[in-house]
Amino acid sequence: MAREFSTVGVVGLGTMGAGIVEVFARNGIDVVAVEISAPALERGRATLTGSTDRAVAKGKLAEADRDALHERVHFAVGLEALHSVDLVIEAVPEHLDLKQRIFAELDRVCRPEAILATNTSSLSVTEISVATSRPNQVIGIHFFNPAPVMKLVEVVRTVVTAPEVVADVEALCTRLGKVDVTINDRAGFIANALLFGYLNHAVGMFESHYATREDIDAAMKLGCGLPMGPLALMDLIGLDTAYEILDTMYRRGGRDRRHAPVPLLKQMVTAGLLGRKSGRGFYTYERPGSPVVVPDEVTPLATEAALADGARAIAKVGVVGSGTMATGIIEVFAKAGYEVISVTRGMEKSAKVCEAVKTSLNKGVVRGKLAEADRDAALGRISWSATLDHLADVDLVVEAVVEELSVKKALFASLDEICKPGVVLATTTSSLPVIDVAMATQRPADVVGLHFFNPAPVMPLVEVVRTIRTSPEATATARAVCAALGKTGVVCGDRSGFIVNALLFPYLNDAVKMLEASYSTADDIDHAMKLGCGYPMGPFELLDVVGLDVSLAIQRELYLELREPGFAPAPLLEHLVTAGYLGRKTRRGFRDHSHR
Ligand SMILES: NC(=O)c1ccc[n+]([C@@H]2O[C@H](COP(=O)([O-])OP(=O)(O)OC[C@H]3O[C@@H](n4cnc5c(N)ncnc54)[C@H](O)[C@@H]3O)[C@@H](O)[C@H]2O)c1
Repeated sequence: MAREFSTVGVVGLGTMGAGIVEVFARNGIDVVAVEISAPALERGRATLTGSTDRAVAKGKLAEADRDALHERVHFAVGLEALHSVDLVIEAVPEHLDLKQRIFAELDRVCRPEAILATNTSSLSVTEISVATSRPNQVIGIHFFNPAPVMKLVEVVRTVVTAPEVVADVEALCTRLGKVDVTINDRAGFIANALLFGYLNHAVGMFESHYATREDIDAAMKLGCGLPMGPLALMDLIGLDTAYEILDTMYRRGGRDRRHAPVPLLKQMVTAGLLGRKSGRGFYTYERPGSPVVVPDEVTPLATEAALADGARAIAKVGVVGSGTMATGIIEVFAKAGYEVISVTRGMEKSAKVCEAVKTSLNKGVVRGKLAEADRDAALGRISWSATLDHLADVDLVVEAVVEELSVKKALFASLDEICKPGVVLATTTSSLPVIDVAMATQRPADVVGLHFFNPAPVMPLVEVVRTIRTSPEATATARAVCAALGKTGVVCGDRSGFIVNALLFPYLNDAVKMLEASYSTADDIDHAMKLGCGYPMGPFELLDVVGLDVSLAIQRELYLELREPGFAPAPLLEHLVTAGYLGRKTRRGFRDHSHR
């Protein structure tokens, strides 16, 4: 018979503990909530009250249910209060010695049959368990932040955890309305092992002034559909906790340099900039504990005037190319009111692109998103040409031809001869160095990258890539144009992968390595990232959509440019590509899509 959990204890009521208390109390379970001191206890109580009051205000919780929830929680200072609970979850700071001390104490205080669980993110559950006389009743129950919202729980069993303890905890997770994945005791388990390399990399980008905090976060939200950007997420996690997790993962997880905490993190922790909980981290918050970001001295001005500062006036735009990206970009510019000259390699190609643009605009009309008159006006703004000579008087050229450096260089050399002075020349390349293209002209200061995402009419993000020769005016122009297109332009340096691909693909590659190591299954890994981190798709779903060949090519580029050993493509990814399993397009990738 499954064990009954009628009373549970929670130790430590910080970022995670307070949320864990709420999860249990919401589901009708009595909670003994324990802190180290009276002030800390009050802080924990205030966090719980704040969270449940917000739920009431949002209409997600009835007032009577909130009151009943609070009645189920008994607050106390000191572990002695836990003498008769059925289960304890420890959520104190991420230090092994502290956790071991607490577990030894819990072992003494709690009933012999009580299960002792840790919410650790990265420490060894096994090492914590041996501080007790009952390691077979010690388990990891890893909730995600914010605990009341995120559906995932990672259940971590050690080699000595009793199978019935695992089964009882799994049943409890179901009772709490959570989805659990059960895994072995390895640094970072599933989600953090895939998440923290990415977060640390994003901090590194910020530290090196590769892009601003707003741009890094906007890129990942808008480019990948993530619920929040990496720096905002660091603030939510808490920089002190994130530092400890990275440090432990570095030491336990094979000394992967990508987990060595970026020096800025340590400085911020020392300076008391811990994120939301202290009111300031990468961003500034209304007050400690508040989720509301307020402007500070580095917040960029978002006014139109600020965006247009130094920008050149653009009225006429040339788009070179006849593929998917060029077609989408022509549509985007024409819809936004620009006069567009499309240049392809022949009138037949032009006719095809014209048809594709018409079809796409018509879809907008059918869906009620575009008035017929606006469609006609947009089409009327486009002229079709098969020669670059017609670009002599445009203000901006966007190149979207084949992804081959020699072709792009030759094209830019021609544009340099044809276009009037002061024109901004943009390449949509997703993997070639923009500076190579820029140096094919005599005017590298006017060359930028404009990396649109596919499909261009839908995706809200554009990466504006400035090289070491790009002028501030050209960058300002590109940014202003993005704003006029209704897109968010994020500015970054000219490095492989820009922002989005550089942060996304190593994470996908890590997921493949995790699968290859048989630590978990593709389904559980996908689940973990969707339910634990709120990602719209799991890594294997996304790899199958993007294409394994494309993913491998991007990962290789990143590896070759940065020489980061951790970026080496996963052998399994290479093998699948060699075998022709490229994802949905070949009906087989990580999953078999032939029956769907
Ligand atoms: N922050 C996250 O996003 C996150 C997510 C999942 C798991 N975790 C893990 O949860 C645990 C707690 O992290 P956090 O971010 O909530 O930390 P936190 O610093 O926000 O809170 C820790 C709390 O523990 C209390 N505490 C310290 N010593 C204590 C003691 N001896 N007895 C009782 N209480 C004590 C502190 O007063 C504090 O309120 C860590 O193991 C962390 O790795 C964190």
